[in-house]
Amino acid sequence: MSHDIPEEKLPEAQDASHGHEVAEHGDPFADPGLPAHEPRRTDIDERAAKRAERQVSLMFIVSMLATIGFIASYVIFPIDKIIYVFPLGHISALNFALGLTLGVALFCIGAGAVHWARTLMSDVEMPAERHAIEADDEVRNDVIEQFKTGAAESGFGRRKLLRNTLIGSMALVPLSGVVLLRDLGPLPEKKLDHTNWNEATPAKPIQLINMNTNQPMKAEDIVVGSLTFAKPEGLEDSDEDFQQRIAKDALMIVRIAPEDIKDAKSRELGFEGVLAYSKICTHVGCPISLYEQQTHHALCPCHQSTFDLSDGARVIFGPAGHPLPQLKITTDEKGFLVATGDFAKPVGPSFWERS
Ligand code: FES
Repeated sequence: MSHDIPEEKLPEAQDASHGHEVAEHGDPFADPGLPAHEPRRTDIDERAAKRAERQVSLMFIVSMLATIGFIASYVIFPIDKIIYVFPLGHISALNFALGLTLGVALFCIGAGAVHWARTLMSDVEMPAERHAIEADDEVRNDVIEQFKTGAAESGFGRRKLLRNTLIGSMALVPLSGVVLLRDLGPLPEKKLDHTNWNEATPAKPIQLINMNTNQPMKAEDIVVGSLTFAKPEGLEDSDEDFQQRIAKDALMIVRIAPEDIKDAKSRELGFEGVLAYSKICTHVGCPISLYEQQTHHALCPCHQSTFDLSDGARVIFGPAGHPLPQLKITTDEKGFLVATGDFAKPVGPSFWERS
């Protein structure tokens, strides 16, 4: 503790309160002081200052336009519109427009603020001495004075164009968040009641296509205990709306020995033990992909809902609230599996209010 040492024994370098005296005695860490302040062009040329002001305002105005563009994108672009953008490839037009406009809006506010600070706000450097954390009244008054001086020098009150455009851009940006609330609605209503199997009729059945081989499926090729995924004939991976359609149309095809099928209605909907269930979990819509052939249980990997496919896909475990809907299937004259109508119940999550 330095206060235990007699003052006359203190080395000069330890006397922090006399920094300048120490420097005079050859301290290698002497304060070199600040370099002389060099005024910027905008400090001495009012026209340059005006030009910088216009540049900053332009950035804030671009930010405002970008925010308006963000909101307009919601109205202009349908949610399923896909466009090609180099080098990203095929992407959602809505997502691209939202990302671009919001990015420009935020960037322009940041760039405008930086340009303002670098060209128009005071750049005079001042050393700040270390001091006790608690400031006395004199220091506080000094800080308030400095703040007022800084505010005056920033031109926030005097440069009305800058101030107003900054306020405008800052006021508009939060609107981007408000329009995102639109994604909470509208409710899907009847759109979830039907899938594209709806287009099948007894007179014009639709073939089941194996999703691995892309070939029609023959009932005789499906062995007991197997699990295959199927899609409707005519739906190609390259289709623009493939993801939206397959999210409703995907099927799990299993074959269970007819005597092992407990649910008579389910046996009726199938063909000689071949059963077609929706692959979309009725909890929150994950694709089901795990099948235990001994027990005929299908397991959803997301939250472990388990369905007994030999008993009408009844839920035997987990949070799903409904059995998996089953599609009625038969075969055409060549023995290919076909559907003659839609699911009897809506597929997918059951948390929507269904009509
Ligand atoms: S989505 Fe299948 S259990 Fe949750």
